[in-house]
Amino acid sequence: MTHLRIHPSILSADFARLGEELAAISTADAAHIDVMDNHFVPNLTWGPPVVQRLREVSPVPFDVHLMIEDADRWAPRYAEIGCESVTFHAEAAIAPIKLARQLRSNGAQAGMALRPATPVEPYLDLLAGGELDLLLVMTVEPGFGGQAFLEVTLPKIRRAAQALLGSQVPVALQVDGGITEETIVRAAEVGADTFVAGSAVYGAASAADAGWRDRFADAWERGSGRAWQEIRSLIRVSRVDHPEGMLVSPEQVSAPRQTPALLVVDGVDDLSAEQLSALRGLEA
Ligand code: DX5
Ligand code: ZN
Repeated sequence: MTHLRIHPSILSADFARLGEELAAISTADAAHIDVMDNHFVPNLTWGPPVVQRLREVSPVPFDVHLMIEDADRWAPRYAEIGCESVTFHAEAAIAPIKLARQLRSNGAQAGMALRPATPVEPYLDLLAGGELDLLLVMTVEPGFGGQAFLEVTLPKIRRAAQALLGSQVPVALQVDGGITEETIVRAAEVGADTFVAGSAVYGAASAADAGWRDRFADAWERGSGRAWQEIRSLIRVSRVDHPEGMLVSPEQVSAPRQTPALLVVDGVDDLSAEQLSALRGLEA
């Protein structure tokens, strides 16, 4: 999970031409498919038969985002019909660990989403324990495309990124809602690596021109996205409790004690200034 990933959301596509709209984003890492049931959110989209047919014609994998109640019952179906990644909402799942395992055994990656006001802390053990492949932090209230990015979610993304650095398994950190060339910089700075964009891709003159991909990549670089990528691929970071929260190499740790947390980085001496500043941003 170490490179920039862009997942255009077909919620902003022309619904009369969904096959062509999927063909237009063949350079994307995946297509983001928003499933809404008019109960979990006040909007309604499509269900398994439509998603299954769209998947058959899509040139890219499907990243399904379920904004539905009773996720425990319905989510596994999306894995069965061939969707590569299925994300349920933490607020809608009764047994998230059982559900995540079921999704994986049905051949999909397991993702969990948090509404903007849902804290990440209750789920940190689940993430560190390798039960999930993806954490989606919603950056708007789910339900509609074209809303403004909620800056208030940035500290939560930062805390999630901190926690995921200490995880022994790769977990993608996805943001969804109001992602533009401006806000992608803000989200990348605090450690997001997978970006859903509906109106910013399909609202452009033509999704097929793929200029959006280069523009997003430039913005991601400005947000230290590459420094993050290199940190994730080169080093191992763990967190221990220590009276002086700071960034150190393993040799510098003498007697870890109380909080705040200490980031222990294998190979901290080999990091570039940009990488160090990306990591130090996490300590704030
Ligand atoms: C909103 C959906 C998003 C939506 C994003 O509830 O989950 O995936 O398509 O649209 P933009 O990028 O326009 O905010
Ligand atoms: Zn979504």
